[in-house]
Amino acid sequence: MSKDTPSSGQDQFANKAQAWSARFSEPVSDLVKRYTASVNFDQRLAAVDIQGSLAHADMLASIGIISQQDYSDIQRGMAQILQEIEQGAFEWSIDLEDVHLNIEKRLVELIGDAGKRLHTGRSRNDQVATDIRLWLRAEIDTSIDLLRQLRRNLAELALQHADTIIPGFTHLQVAQPVTFGHHLLAYAEMFERDAQRLADCRKRVNRLPLGAAALAGTSYPIDRDRVAKSLGFDGVCRNSLDAVSDRDFAIEFCAAAALIMTHISRLSEELVLWMSPRVGFIDLADRFCTGSSIMPQKKNPDVPELARGKTGRVNGHLIALLTLMKGQPLAYHKDNQEDKEGLFDSADTIRDTLTIFVDMVSGIRVKPEAMRAAALQGFATATDLADYLVKKGVPFRDAHETVAHAVRTCEEKGCDLADLPLEDLRAFHASIESDVFDVLTLEGSVAARNHIGGTAPERVRLEAQRVLDETSAVN
Ligand code: ARG
Repeated sequence: MSKDTPSSGQDQFANKAQAWSARFSEPVSDLVKRYTASVNFDQRLAAVDIQGSLAHADMLASIGIISQQDYSDIQRGMAQILQEIEQGAFEWSIDLEDVHLNIEKRLVELIGDAGKRLHTGRSRNDQVATDIRLWLRAEIDTSIDLLRQLRRNLAELALQHADTIIPGFTHLQVAQPVTFGHHLLAYAEMFERDAQRLADCRKRVNRLPLGAAALAGTSYPIDRDRVAKSLGFDGVCRNSLDAVSDRDFAIEFCAAAALIMTHISRLSEELVLWMSPRVGFIDLADRFCTGSSIMPQKKNPDVPELARGKTGRVNGHLIALLTLMKGQPLAYHKDNQEDKEGLFDSADTIRDTLTIFVDMVSGIRVKPEAMRAAALQGFATATDLADYLVKKGVPFRDAHETVAHAVRTCEEKGCDLADLPLEDLRAFHASIESDVFDVLTLEGSVAARNHIGGTAPERVRLEAQRVLDETSAVN
């Protein structure tokens, strides 16, 4: 770090290793320094740290605690620091522990005493809580928008495949035919709830801790509402002890992130299965797959496999943060410095994963013939035959039994229900007539389920359109 601007003669900060070292008789060992420092990972908070400091300085000037000249010096110094950081010219020092002290030290180097006045009425405890909230708010907004794009691309594909039939499974056994569009829209629902969870979490993230100082508040006549407003917070944290200590807002985010990854992981599992040559329902674009170094024929769905795997680390961060918090009495403890790496990694993982999935989903190549062929196996319309009998007056349990006999016969003959001639079907129940074939076909089966939440093509088109309307960028 260059020393281009001298500070005042009585410099008790710029010449010392630590901002707090006057109280101590011996320095910490290199290992302890490394153990306690966070600058290697919290430097990514630099931009929001500066933003928070400027809002604090503006407020201090507005109530006359610092002069307007100090405030404009702080603005000038911070602008230069931000530029140095963006250009990679800023020299981060582990001796200065964290992002806050690195920036403050440089500010003092650049502008002298005005830099030393910045920390009036503030502590790193309320400063770091403010920084994390500002940073997390932006991450939440980015992820909500990515979820919107993902839902949109799922809905577009669903609209194209509102009529495409695949076997629906329960217990991984063919159950009933569904439309592929309907299947895709199930994920659009999950991702909508994920976005709602993030939006709800944002309300609690978007509160200002500054003013809490170390833990008890401050004796200066601060204007917290002014700071909240200039940083875009919806309000202030209403208890200073709570403001500096609880990280529940970060835990909530990690929980929402874990659910996002859980949904992504389920979708990934399906993509992997669907792409297996044994199933062959879809193909993923080559840019999301890799080959094998030994088996020339392989095209592996690496991206969904990795996404499924990365769910583990995001789940882990949630547990780590819950565990970090559970034993802490009020108020701030250094334990909380451990909140950052997991939180950052959760946010990075969902951002990267969602960005990739937005693109990957729209590049899915669907193979409707293979889907249809699979739906024709496994007596997917057996329930439709039972429902048909019920509509002819047969009690459901009897109808169920009758169809079970029919399925057994088909199994012996190696054919589908719809392949049996009418006479054979009538042998199972006299009320079966020629209109039975309307319900035994795959198309008849899905078309009949035309209610809210049903799989009928007409319904899928309506739902897909609703999602498209909801997720248009202008909203
Ligand atoms: N680096 C610290 C953290 O991340 C900042 C707050 C430190 N406060 C303190 N009194 N040691 O939590």
